Amino acid sequence: MMAKNLAIIGAQWGDEGKGAIVAHYLKETGAEICVRAQGGNNAGHTLYDDDGRKVVVNIAPSGIIFPDVVNVIGNGCVVDLEVLASNIGSLKPKLYLSDSAHLLLPYHQQIDALREERRGKRKIGTTQRGIGPAYADKINREGLRLGLLRNPALLEEKIRQCVEQKNEEWNGELARIYGSPAASAEEMIERLRPLFQRFAPTVIDTSSYLHKAIQQGKRIIFEGAQGSLLDLDQGTYPYVTSSNTTIPGILTGTGLGLRSIDYALGVTKAYSTRVGEGIFPTEGEAYEEVKKQTRENINFTDEEKSRLSRGDVSDPHYDLLVSRHIRKVAGEFGATTGRPRRVGWLDLVALKKAIRINGLDYLVLTHLDSLDGLGTVKVCTAYRKTSTGEIMTEFPNEQSDLAGFEPVYEFFPGWKKTNEIRSFDKLPPEAQGYLEFLGRKGLPLSLVKNGPGQEDYIEILKL
Ligand code: IMP
Repeated sequence: MMAKNLAIIGAQWGDEGKGAIVAHYLKETGAEICVRAQGGNNAGHTLYDDDGRKVVVNIAPSGIIFPDVVNVIGNGCVVDLEVLASNIGSLKPKLYLSDSAHLLLPYHQQIDALREERRGKRKIGTTQRGIGPAYADKINREGLRLGLLRNPALLEEKIRQCVEQKNEEWNGELARIYGSPAASAEEMIERLRPLFQRFAPTVIDTSSYLHKAIQQGKRIIFEGAQGSLLDLDQGTYPYVTSSNTTIPGILTGTGLGLRSIDYALGVTKAYSTRVGEGIFPTEGEAYEEVKKQTRENINFTDEEKSRLSRGDVSDPHYDLLVSRHIRKVAGEFGATTGRPRRVGWLDLVALKKAIRINGLDYLVLTHLDSLDGLGTVKVCTAYRKTSTGEIMTEFPNEQSDLAGFEPVYEFFPGWKKTNEIRSFDKLPPEAQGYLEFLGRKGLPLSLVKNGPGQEDYIEILKL
């Protein structure tokens, strides 16, 4: 049988539930290798191992929960070794790190926070994990790559040079954080030396390793991080992350050729979420209000509950109630930062862009069950200019082009319960109709997730 290498990437603004899908297809296809190609520990993938234990990984590939899977961190990643070590914890994964991946060092994180502070009202709402500054150093050709772990003396010398330069550039501001005299190279080296030693033997030319693995017929799952609309080039710039989160990012981030990916799967929720600033056309509630919400303080009166189940489309607060309801039932709070996520209806205009810029083959839909019990389910199919009625059906590259537009929705009757159902034909007819519509308007669905557990899925198409 031909090896099938799957790329599984986010088709929205991240947090689509990719980790669970990667874990599913690792098991389902018996893939031997799991690869991260871009991003760093801005990601947060929540997984459940075979014993049902919850594991959250940030920079480690999701395959670390399976002892037989080889996990690879490709050259396109920025790696905080401290976070990597804590992701691994007591697990004993097989792991290789690319010698061309970049080190994310403590000063990157501090500079991320300082930059956000300086931006004031224009802030991006980054995860403050140092991602942007680490990639900036890479682009400026001032980064330190993991290959240096093989030459500790040279690595330490370069860290000293970099720290000196950062202290000069951020004179005063870094000192404010670290206390005088700003960042200390010696402290950093002392702290990180055990990790440099621990991970040095895992640093290899991963491009060459993966290339050989493909030639040997091994199966690979490429695991995307963040989502297509956070892509540095194609996303809602400047409210994006600093790497290419789309399929091309997998090629440049692994050093593999075009034909290394057999199928590209885009993961989308049955609704939309976004964390941080930036355009979000179907957003159900003002972000300022969302920020005040916690897992504990979202509560509904009996009257609000009945409005949710009635789903009266003329109810002016229906979208707001739905977004809060989903935040609560789906636990829409960041796995990395704990921030409440912004929630809105599924946006097919945005999804169409994700399909185009990635060349997706199939969609995986997650969180179908999070819509259970709603009276009406809405899907955005276009945007309309409120002043002129002009219709827009392509997601614009420049987010200011969306000013004055509002979503145009298609309405679907809701359903009571999809959770615990294991086949498409057992789903309530309303849910079937909704999924068929998405399949027609978007792409064929390969899998639908309808609960957080490993077994909570409906296979639509065997890959
Ligand atoms: P950064 O990647 O930390 O620089 O953050 C840039 C933007 O991407 C912010 O809006 C973040 O909230 C968002 N972001 C980064 N990583 C993730 C993720 O894994 N899921 C969702 N949003 C993310």
